[in-house]
Formats: sequence, C-alpha cells, structure tokens
Amino acid sequence: MKVTVIGSGNLGKSIIAGLASSALFDPKNILVADKSNENLEFIKNSSGVSVTPDNNNAVKDAKWIILCIQPRVLKLVLDEIKDQLNPDQVLISTVTGVSIDEINKIVPENKVIRAMPNTAAIKQQSMSFITSLDNEHEDVAFVEKMFGTIGKTMIIEEHLMQAATVLGASSTAFFLRFLRALTQGGVQMGFHPHEAQEISAQVAIGAAALIEDGTHAEVEVDNVTTPQGCTIEGLNAMEHNGLSSAVIKGVMAAYQRINNIN
Ligand SMILES: NC(=O)c1ccc[n+]([C@@H]2O[C@H](COP(=O)([O-])OP(=O)(O)OC[C@H]3O[C@@H](n4cnc5c(N)ncnc54)[C@H](OP(=O)(O)O)[C@@H]3O)[C@@H](O)[C@H]2O)c1
Repeated sequence: MKVTVIGSGNLGKSIIAGLASSALFDPKNILVADKSNENLEFIKNSSGVSVTPDNNNAVKDAKWIILCIQPRVLKLVLDEIKDQLNPDQVLISTVTGVSIDEINKIVPENKVIRAMPNTAAIKQQSMSFITSLDNEHEDVAFVEKMFGTIGKTMIIEEHLMQAATVLGASSTAFFLRFLRALTQGGVQMGFHPHEAQEISAQVAIGAAALIEDGTHAEVEVDNVTTPQGCTIEGLNAMEHNGLSSAVIKGVMAAYQRINNIN
C-alpha cells in the first residue's frame, strides 16, 4: 500500500518520520511532494523516502494522500491533482479549519478524512483528532493507526473539530504559559531559571503520568495536599486569584475566536 504526503513543512516532516519508522508502510512506499526543494532534500536524507516536486506525479499510485499544506494553497493543490484522482483514493486533510464538505466540493468522488495533530507531533507526543463522515469505516481505523505513529489519537465527530483545536492544540501554549509562571516562582525562591524550568517540566510530565490510567486529577491533588500544609495554602491562594476561572475563560475565549475566524 502506498502513501503520498503533499507538503513536508513542520507537520509533514513529523508525519513522514512517524510513518517511515512504523511497520505500517515500507519507506519505499512513502512518496513526498513539496514545492520546497530544501524540505524535500531534508526528508530524503532523514527518512529514506522518495520525493518529487510534482504533485500530479505524486498522487498517481497512492491509496492514501495526506495533505500537509497551508489553508491558502489547499484549493490550488486540489485543483491541480483532482483530474489524476480515482475514487478509491482517500484524502487525509490536516488543513486547519477546512471542512470535509468544502473539500468534497472540489473532489466529490473521494473519501475525505480530516486529521488534526498538534505541534508535539515532532516529538511523537501529539494529541491528534480524526474525523470523517463515517467514523465506523475501516479506513478511519487505519488513519488512526497512521497518526498513532506521532502520539495519541481520538476519533471525534466533525462538529467537535474547533473545540479539539482549542483543547488539543492551543492548550500546548496554555500549559507552557503556566509552566513559565511556575518557573518564575521557582526563580524567586532561589533556583536558576534553567533549573526551575527543568523541574517544572518534569513535574508536568509526572503529573500527566499519574492520571494516564484515568485516575481523576483531584485524587492526585488530594495526594499532595497535606491538611494545613504548604500545597493547600498555595492552591487556595491561586484559586482566590481566579486560577480555574481564568483558565476556563481563556479556553472559551479561544473557542469563540476560532468559531469566528473567516
Ligand atoms: N504544525 C502543526 O503542528 C499543525 C498542527 C495541526 C494542523 N496543522 C495544519 O497542517 C498544515 C501544514 O502546516 P505546517 O506547519 O506543516 O505548514 P508549513 O511548515 O508551511 O509546510 C507546508 C509545506 O507545503 C509546501 N507547499 C506550499 N505550496 C505547495 C504546493 N502548491 N504544493 C506542494 N507543497 C506546497 C511549503 O513549501 P514552501 O515553504 O516553499 O511554501 C511547505 O514546505 C496547515 O494547514 C496547518 O493548519 C499544522
């Protein structure tokens, strides 16, 4: 089975590396097309896959075509390849904010599956969302396996894609801002900034590991909060200053914004 990736920028590189190191595809069956010769050269040398500057050539024999291009060039690329496509080919779009319906208006014969990873794909730690018009179809299960090579996956209904973008992608920035604030507190208590950041990051990884099995977060909060101790003193001071409320308001502000971006 062959797969073609169109676009080998930030996200395309991560997906190609994930697929090339997985058992799903032989690297010789992965073909990458891009307008950027620099990106193609990098991909060829780092992943051992085939590359081409020609989108039309690239899609000819592939069962799966992954689109990793910016929204502004999506129509251009679809118009370019649409006459080469046959109905058995599946398009997987990672393009943010473009619906299955909009893509199918240009390529009505092909199944379209949307996938939305986050920037941690580069560390194989993405939270990726997959959606299609028929989430029970075996093709969706296979696409989930593909994106499983760059982290965790979740199949969702398409109407949740905007919410998924906020909770699954914008949240990277939300967490890192919280981590920076922790770091600043650490520096004020006497750690060097790099030490404070290292400590905060490892604590974040540890906290996530504690709830990975589905344990409720508050169970682990209770495990750290000794009655009358320093942790509950700190937590309550943060809540009096609106921590939970500020985070929920931030999430909802981002959600309102994403629903109003043209
Ligand atoms: N980065 C992420 O973690 C992430 C997460 C979720 C969703 N997404 C979505 O994924 C898509 C790609 O994002 P990205 O960050 O990887 O973008 P990117 O770094 O800009 O990569 C896009 C690549 O496509 C190439 N390209 C431009 N026009 C082309 C054409 N006509 N045919 C073939 N290739 C073409 C670009 O070449 P040039 O540089 O020469 O233009 C570039 O190498 C976007 O729609 C984004 O919304 C990204």
